[in-house]
Amino acid sequence: MEKIHVGLCGLGTVGTGVVKILQDHKEHIKHKLGCEIEITKVLVNNMEKKRDVVIKRDWLTSDPAELVDDEAIDVIIEVMGGIEDTNKLLERALENKKHIVTANKDLMAVHGQKLLRLAKKNNCDILYDASVAGGIPILRSLSDGLASDHIQKIMGIVNGTTNYMMTKMADEGLAYEEVLKEAQDLGFAEADPTADVDGLDAARKMTLLANLAFKMELHLEDVDVSGIRNITQEDISFADSLGYTIKLIGIASMNHGKAEVTVEPTLLPKDHPLALVKNEFNAVYVYGEAVGETMFYGPGAGSLPTATAVVSDLMEVVKNIRLGISGSAHIDPQFDRQLKEDKEKYSRHFIRLDVDDQAGAFQEITNIFSEHEVSFAKILQLPGDQEKTAEIVMVTHKISREQLLMSMAKLEGLGVVKRLISHYRVDGEE
Ligand code: HSE
Repeated sequence: MEKIHVGLCGLGTVGTGVVKILQDHKEHIKHKLGCEIEITKVLVNNMEKKRDVVIKRDWLTSDPAELVDDEAIDVIIEVMGGIEDTNKLLERALENKKHIVTANKDLMAVHGQKLLRLAKKNNCDILYDASVAGGIPILRSLSDGLASDHIQKIMGIVNGTTNYMMTKMADEGLAYEEVLKEAQDLGFAEADPTADVDGLDAARKMTLLANLAFKMELHLEDVDVSGIRNITQEDISFADSLGYTIKLIGIASMNHGKAEVTVEPTLLPKDHPLALVKNEFNAVYVYGEAVGETMFYGPGAGSLPTATAVVSDLMEVVKNIRLGISGSAHIDPQFDRQLKEDKEKYSRHFIRLDVDDQAGAFQEITNIFSEHEVSFAKILQLPGDQEKTAEIVMVTHKISREQLLMSMAKLEGLGVVKRLISHYRVDGEE
């Protein structure tokens, strides 16, 4: 029986999971594929480190060339992370006609299109389902299960750390700093949590989702990103009084051939399926023209969930090798990259203003909104923090980003407005 030889780059959390799944599910995998898979080399930094899996000592090497230049290796699994050096390594592997499976969204969001082209040129596959939402087969669902549909919108909770933090802030009334520390103690958030809390991790994943869904070559720089650092208990509590939950949501939408991709704190109606996704779980809501609404839910990270996606991709690569169709995936974008302008980006907005509590103040404010044709769905007014001040909290009907920015600029110049406290997108309702 034919055997496929694999070089595994990285033996951390995900790499260990990959070895476990290949060992524990060996018979099932062999039965499905009709051939065996064998890891023959593992690239590690530290040859002496004690490992959680049983591996042969002579599999280990700290020299990448022993994997990417080894003629006997058919497939490279890359689960070590990193961008530039890893990119060079994978380019060399592809030039040496090795197929690639990677879980590296940081790399794929930056160099993905170039790597896909290089893979095709060398008749190789490069699969990366594990890079978005770990254990949820969302990239595969977009490229296979929903292949016949036109995807119009994707809304995703694609960062477990921030979803855990937002859940704790909302359910337990904890402050941002407290939940961040808790997330770090539990090992969800990194010592440097910037990529998670500032939205970069989610933006990378949304870039990959949007490219696949819209068949357009969008770049990481095309994503408008803001994170969760400035969300306060007051924001959460006012949102709650108006019927909403705040989550860090990635949204990719396509209208009239133009795309918009954002990652930002977003208010969702409390009964929206994404609002019910708690703790570190991920979920991706997909709207297709024909299928309507679908939601994919599950673990977004972790050793075995992510390794499941990696090994399933590996099995796909092996199937293609055996069928002789490696490198046959259509990777060229179908549409030119076109982005929506501010006047074409529509959504509702939640706005909090600190204002002077005096006769006519409210009218001055509403005059500005009406000048820009902004109309309101919900409004609350409460006494402010200081004497003779009031806080106004409102939710607009759908307006363009241009209308929002122009009204905000005018409000900031208005004498009765002491401060624009916060504003967030509202989505998930018509
Ligand atoms: N840091 C990511 C998260 C996991 O919190 O979801 C890896 O993508």
